[in-house]
Amino acid sequence: MTTVSAVVQTHPSDSLLVRAARRQRVERTPVWFMRQAGRSLPEYREARAGTPMLEACRTPDLVTEITLQPVRRHGVDAAIFFSDIVVPLAAVGVDVDIVAGTGPVVAKPIRTRADLDRLPELTPDQVPDIAESVRRIAAALGGTPLIGFAGAPFTLASYLVEGGPSRNHENTKALMYGDPELWHDLCARLAQIAGAFLRVQAQAGASVVQLFDSWVGALPLADYERYVRPHSAAALAAVADLGVPRIHFGVGTGELLPAMGAAGAEVVGVDFRVSLTDAVRRLGPEYAVQGNLDPATLFAPWPAVEEQVRRIVTEGRSTPGHIFNLGHGVLPETDPEVLTRVVELVHEASSR
Ligand code: CP3
Repeated sequence: MTTVSAVVQTHPSDSLLVRAARRQRVERTPVWFMRQAGRSLPEYREARAGTPMLEACRTPDLVTEITLQPVRRHGVDAAIFFSDIVVPLAAVGVDVDIVAGTGPVVAKPIRTRADLDRLPELTPDQVPDIAESVRRIAAALGGTPLIGFAGAPFTLASYLVEGGPSRNHENTKALMYGDPELWHDLCARLAQIAGAFLRVQAQAGASVVQLFDSWVGALPLADYERYVRPHSAAALAAVADLGVPRIHFGVGTGELLPAMGAAGAEVVGVDFRVSLTDAVRRLGPEYAVQGNLDPATLFAPWPAVEEQVRRIVTEGRSTPGHIFNLGHGVLPETDPEVLTRVVELVHEASSR
């Protein structure tokens, strides 16, 4: 197998990404993009043509190829495993589909105790292909680290309870506030599933993991602490003994950043609404940060993009550790050449 790492690195555990996550000295700022593998790339659209999303996620040849595509094209400092947050839910038997342009759709939403009984725990033997894909990718990447990931309990619960994407999460909140016991049991199960999925990836060769709590910014801090944080902490604790740095990310989570760090992460993801400087003021010196270019900025003329990237690199220098990323995922219509230019600029602007 060929290696795609641009820089000769001995081992992913010494990579820029892992060292920045551990708040160690780095020669330059590592950069990768959430949703870097996906519809912005013509080679992705070609590879995926004719294969439904969830089937693609369970096919090691495709997962390997698609995961490596953005590393080859952009020269990013990490690969993120090509999968989806609902893959482990489908693996335990949830009838879920990913509808193009919409997102995950669940045939029978989970709203009662009897519904929860239809959601079993995840065991590694249900996802042998995931371990196989991770092993193949890690071998092909050489010194470039692979990021494994899972959806956090709140975000997974939102899809399961609503039955699909939701703006207001009203059924989710009705369950959370109306039947806290069932809510906690549901989230404990989802924490087991997310934790087991992270553990499979880390044991097979992922060097970093990220827990995506994309929609948890819908909650005030007090409710996050009471209804969510213990479960996200349990998911992150499932890989605590494996020594892989853990990134904890959400959108609209400015008020939640310290609580998300305290859930057991080494790195806290910051969206574009809070500056890295303010994020570090809130988090204190114990955490590295990841972020935070607004993905919509990539549609502006290059000089505007450049100004924002330079500002974020400069702010990142004053943090305990910085991983450059977007504040949320790459939008499908993004020009991939702009992404490549951003990688080059981060590398150039941060070199010391
Ligand atoms: O490149 C990467 O970041 C790795 C792959 C990845 C996907 N989904 C692939 C995908 C990751 C990390 C995810 C996580 C994910 N999935 C999240 C958390 C991150 C976030 O963006 O907040 C969430 C909320 C989901 C649920 C989900 N799956 C959504 C909202 C969508 C988009 C629906 C659409 O068509 O707009 C999906 C589908 C999905 N997941 C695609 C990809 C590449 C698109 C599938 C396609 O090509 O049609």
